[in-house]
Amino acid sequence: MSFFIASAVLQSDPPSSLDPRGPAAANIAELWWVMFLLGTAIFVLVVGLMLFGLFARRNAPEPDERQGNRWIVIGGIIMPSIVLAVVFLFTMRSSAMTANEPGTGALTIEVIGRRWWWEVNYPEQGVITANEIHIPVGTPIEFLLKSGDVIHSFWVPQLAGKMDLIPGRDNRLILQADEAGVYRGECAEYCGLQHARMQFIVIAQNPAEFEQWIASQQQVAELPQDELAARGQEVFVSAGCVYCHTVRGLDSGDVDRSAVDLGPDLTHLASRTTIGAGIRANNRGNLSGWISNPHGIKPGVLMPATLLPGEELQALLAFLESLQ
Ligand code: CUA
Repeated sequence: MSFFIASAVLQSDPPSSLDPRGPAAANIAELWWVMFLLGTAIFVLVVGLMLFGLFARRNAPEPDERQGNRWIVIGGIIMPSIVLAVVFLFTMRSSAMTANEPGTGALTIEVIGRRWWWEVNYPEQGVITANEIHIPVGTPIEFLLKSGDVIHSFWVPQLAGKMDLIPGRDNRLILQADEAGVYRGECAEYCGLQHARMQFIVIAQNPAEFEQWIASQQQVAELPQDELAARGQEVFVSAGCVYCHTVRGLDSGDVDRSAVDLGPDLTHLASRTTIGAGIRANNRGNLSGWISNPHGIKPGVLMPATLLPGEELQALLAFLESLQ
């Protein structure tokens, strides 16, 4: 299942805001079409008049001044006022609809933008994950958007418009998915070297599947019984992974994390379909490359390379893959 999601996402076409799958995005797509059609009509009209002026009236007498003024008043003042008023009304309507109160039954998800990944918290459910946001279909979702460092922008083109994540400020975005599916999201505000690779996915599921997912994510990690993975658990602590990454349920001694930039919570890493904020499928080969040389995959990433002897790396990979 997760393999199929990963390959579908990594190979899919860029998500289009003209292929909306929820009310907020449908609204924005509608506004886009209104503006496009109005713009096209005006373009055709202007080009038509220009051609008419160039060819059809070549031998006509000069128009008198009053007639010329009438063209300016109608074409330069009245028509643009009407067109702009129509666009303004449509824009106000879209803004009002996308800024709606969530109503009762909305699910709150907190998203914190970080260089260059997304921390995802479900405060009411006590779930923490990263880069993959599960939501139930047909339910309004209220996103609380924050930043851990610089300005980012949260954008799932098929579900809603963009909303910035600004340090020191909480922004809100409400969206809803009408169809189950996997929707790609991007950071839409330049935020540094890996801005273009600050991706995420939204996985819209039917409510029963979503509840199941929440229940599994609420569990602390099941620590491995398998010998190799148990050895990997020790490597996870001794190699220093534990300084930036939490695995709930793992006794990591008294590690002081206050001085470091935290990386994603890895308690259920193996249940995620991608790594590196949506840029590689989550499989053993990619994980191994990511640990040994993250800068080769994502130059500038804040995670340092961890060079381990082969035996320790294999053990660590076994441990990470056990974190279902
Ligand atoms: Cu974060 Cu661009």
